[in-house]
Amino acid sequence: MKHITYNEETKVFRLNTNNSSYQMQVREHATLVHLYYGANVGDTEVTHRIISLDRGFSGNPYEAGEDRTFSLDVLPQEYSGYGNGDYRINGMEVEHEDGSDAVRLCYESHQIRKGKYSLSGLPAMYGDEDEAETLEIVLCDNISNLKVHLLYGVFPKLDVITRAVRIKNEGEKQITIQRAMSMEMDYPNKNMDLIHFYGRHCMERLKERLPLHHGVQSVESKRGTSSHQHNPFVILCDKKTTETHGDCYGFALVYSGNYRCEIEVDQMEQTRLVMGIHPYHFSYRLNQGDMFETPEVIIAYSAEGLGRLSHIYHDAYRSNLIRSKYVNTPRPILVNNWEATYFDFNEEKLFNIAKEAKEIGLDMFVLDDGWFGKRDSDYSGLGDWTVNEEKIRGGLPKLVKKIKGIGMKFGIWIEPEMISEDSELYRKHPDWCLRIPERHMNRSRHQLNLDITRKEVREYVMGQIFKVLDSCSVDYVKWDMNRSVDNVYSLALPKERQGEVFHRYVLGVYEMMEALVQRYPDILFENCSGGGGRFDAGMLYYSPQIWCSDNTDAIDRLKIQYGTSFGYPISTMGAHLSVCPNHQTGRTTPQETRGIVASAGTFGFELDLEHMSAEEKELAKKQIQEYKAMEHLVQTGDYHRLSSPFKNRDYVVWQFVSKDKKETIVHGVMLRNEANPHIHLIYLRGLESEAVYKDMETEKLYTGAALMKAGMPLPVKQGDFTPIQFRFCKVG
Ligand code: DGJ
Repeated sequence: MKHITYNEETKVFRLNTNNSSYQMQVREHATLVHLYYGANVGDTEVTHRIISLDRGFSGNPYEAGEDRTFSLDVLPQEYSGYGNGDYRINGMEVEHEDGSDAVRLCYESHQIRKGKYSLSGLPAMYGDEDEAETLEIVLCDNISNLKVHLLYGVFPKLDVITRAVRIKNEGEKQITIQRAMSMEMDYPNKNMDLIHFYGRHCMERLKERLPLHHGVQSVESKRGTSSHQHNPFVILCDKKTTETHGDCYGFALVYSGNYRCEIEVDQMEQTRLVMGIHPYHFSYRLNQGDMFETPEVIIAYSAEGLGRLSHIYHDAYRSNLIRSKYVNTPRPILVNNWEATYFDFNEEKLFNIAKEAKEIGLDMFVLDDGWFGKRDSDYSGLGDWTVNEEKIRGGLPKLVKKIKGIGMKFGIWIEPEMISEDSELYRKHPDWCLRIPERHMNRSRHQLNLDITRKEVREYVMGQIFKVLDSCSVDYVKWDMNRSVDNVYSLALPKERQGEVFHRYVLGVYEMMEALVQRYPDILFENCSGGGGRFDAGMLYYSPQIWCSDNTDAIDRLKIQYGTSFGYPISTMGAHLSVCPNHQTGRTTPQETRGIVASAGTFGFELDLEHMSAEEKELAKKQIQEYKAMEHLVQTGDYHRLSSPFKNRDYVVWQFVSKDKKETIVHGVMLRNEANPHIHLIYLRGLESEAVYKDMETEKLYTGAALMKAGMPLPVKQGDFTPIQFRFCKVG
């Protein structure tokens, strides 16, 4: 069956996934009009949605002649240019050689093909001929001969559609792009809420839901990364939409740099959403024949609430975005030495942690920051990727051999995008960082961004890293990035190209990561940016997991992991059990609870195992075994948010269900145990109503319907932050 069709007569494009439809039409004056995105409407072409009226103060393009009802100011468009009487936020803006900036995009041609398009140098979903189809529509600004190729990737089974834009200057004059959004989406009404994920370092991706209002609202980052402050994933939903009911639309930008998602409710109560690279400090010069590609946006629609929307993204990322061979296989459970030692260690200390780790059943030791250069604090050493022999006597290969000798895997931390002023590299190449001539540089964590828009810089750094990785057999690499991008100026680029620095920086990161994953396909990569400062779909193309937050406190993590779960698979969230009192909050929580919370992610430990008591170690052993037994659910199951940590102050519960519905685990934390307590019932989801499930602890039997409709009471306990844990298996 064809999932993309074009009707020559009516000029309607129909894109269908199993449960959604997307339609557009070439209308008067070759204008590509957006008709619909939402529940699958089958074969009906919904052209009746467009009603044109004469609107005061909404002008008409010259070619409309006497027709005052044709105005781009009110028509829903597929991708709009600036300067045509459409005063809303636009998809694109350019500057022509003569200083003018109008772009009128008219339909020219299209092509439908099997398989998913790809982008050069940018991460994107992939799909072969059986999985995806591509629609490429060419729009043209006839005066400048600027061609705008709208790319659509349709994944019928996954229920997602991807969008990106390829812009080619086929004219004779130079054109400078000032704004090139990856997509535009027009809705006929404004009765929706916006859900977005804001935060800060150590408190990322906190969910907020707000009604749309007239005018423009936005979600964005200008920090050169996707940022801790605002995640490039947003949801528009019906006002009544819940976890289990109602319409919702997701928009995920597959990009790790500056971005903006703007939503405008216009004078006619229509809503327009655009998403793409932030126009701030962005311009891109296209000489004759040059081409520019925007990053991709993955859009998804669910008629069954936010839970289903999350499942769509989780499944799509796990099957057609994350490329790592580890995506759906058990990952090594690691111990990371960061919170155990910070910069203060030697090879003996590291080996002892690895030895303890082996004893409690962990699989891998990860050596974090501080192993290289003169790196005794965060004031120095970045850029010098040779081992610090004062700390690791005998060198890295010797230590790795020793650790591997006891049957542990070995992982290592790197931060390739950075340079410390106190480093050999900086002394040799002070011009290799981003810096604005004649101005002092803004420092952050006392480090600077390398100018990785420069090929020689990228090659040098990766060469150094490759030497390290080649010298000992490394199983895992954690790629960190510990400051926002600043001092945005490349000494290697001419004045008129400085607006490209932010984007070229991101392309540089992608090129370096691609080199790494191509050269070491067997290494497991984890991304990180001061925790979750670059937790985005772009990074997942290179690594199957991202360190979720520098905050390892189990109670704060409830909010962080809850927010992250809306747009990202649980198996992508790095989550570690750390010591109490917690280093970030000073809070004390039971080890069981810390284990439960860290199990909703890629589980690991981050504490000094030598300081654990025998009892704690016994419990850790059990927790590792329990995680191993449930890891398949984390990796391939469906995840249900049974309660919200933002609404419910008594408890937080979540549930994993295997795809075959034979097994389910409910985990959670009791936030407040009260005297003479209320009974709290929780209602499971995603089970077979008729099937019989056994509570694996009490051995009691329940129908799926009973668990979902009659609910389960939470255990009554005493103490602070007690764990909640149920496991049910289908027995009939
Ligand atoms: C920030 C990371 O998120 C931490 O886990 C740790 O790797 C430090 N950087 C090291 O500098």
